[in-house]
Amino acid sequence: MNIKVNNLTFAYTQKIVLNKLTFAINSGDFLTIVGKNGSGKSTFIKCLLKLVKIADDTIFLNDQDINKIQRFQNVGYVPQRIEFSYEFPITVSEVLSSAYLHRKDAYYTSVINALDLNTFYRENVNTLSGGQLQRVFIARALLNHPKLLILDEPTVGVDLENIKGVVKILTELKKQGVTIIISTHEIEYVRDLTDYFLSMSDFGEYRFVEAGKWN
Ligand SMILES: Nc1ncnc2c1ncn2[C@@H]1O[C@H](COP(=O)(O)OP(=O)(O)OP(=O)(O)O)[C@@H](O)[C@H]1O
Ligand SMILES: [Mg+2]
Repeated sequence: MNIKVNNLTFAYTQKIVLNKLTFAINSGDFLTIVGKNGSGKSTFIKCLLKLVKIADDTIFLNDQDINKIQRFQNVGYVPQRIEFSYEFPITVSEVLSSAYLHRKDAYYTSVINALDLNTFYRENVNTLSGGQLQRVFIARALLNHPKLLILDEPTVGVDLENIKGVVKILTELKKQGVTIIISTHEIEYVRDLTDYFLSMSDFGEYRFVEAGKWN
C-alpha cells in the first residue's frame, strides 16, 4: 500500500502536535518514526488509522482519501498500550485462532515459532507477562497477511531473542512488499530495514529523510 500525507495538521487542544506534515512512501517501504516522548508518534499513527478525526484530503492510502474508506482491509496494527480486559478466560491459541480466518497453515506456524509462543500457547492470556502478551499481539497483527503493518513501539518490554524474532518476520514481510510503519526508541534493531525516517519534535516540527541520508 502506498501512503501520501499531505499538509496534515493536528491538535488535541490548542497545542499543535502535527504541523503541516507532508511526505509519501510506496508499497514495500519501511518507515521508522522516531522522536522523544510526546513528540506525536502515536498521534500520527492514530490519524493514519482514523482513530482520531482529521481533515479531508490529508492522508491517502493507495490514492484514496482515508476519510472516504469505510473499513480498512489488510491493515495490521499493534498499539503502544494494549487495553486488555477480557472478562472471560481465553488462551493464547484462542486469541490467535479468532484472528485467523484461514486454516492453520505454514505461515501460521512460522509466526508462532518466530515469536516463540509455543511454551505458553495453551495458557490463559491473563497469566502472561507484559512482554509475552506483547508478542501475542504482534503475532495477531501479522496473521491476517497485512499489506500495511503499523507497530507502535512493539519492542518495549520484549527480550532480545524475541526482538530478533520480530525483526526476522519484518524482514520477510518487507521482501513480500508489505508496507511497514514502526515507531521506536531503539532504531538499531530496524536500521538495516528502514527506507525512510520520520523524526518528530515538539510543536509538529519534523524531518522526513531517506535512510541513507540519516545520521
Ligand atoms: N488523548 C489525548 N488528549 C490530549 N492530548 C493528548 C492525547 N494523546 C496525546 N496527547 C498529547 O499529544 C502529544 C503527543 O502525544 P503522542 O502520544 O503522540 O506522543 P508519542 O511521540 O507517541 O510519545 P511516546 O514516545 O511517549 O509514546 C503529547 O503532548 C501528549 O500529551
Ligand atoms: Mg507513543
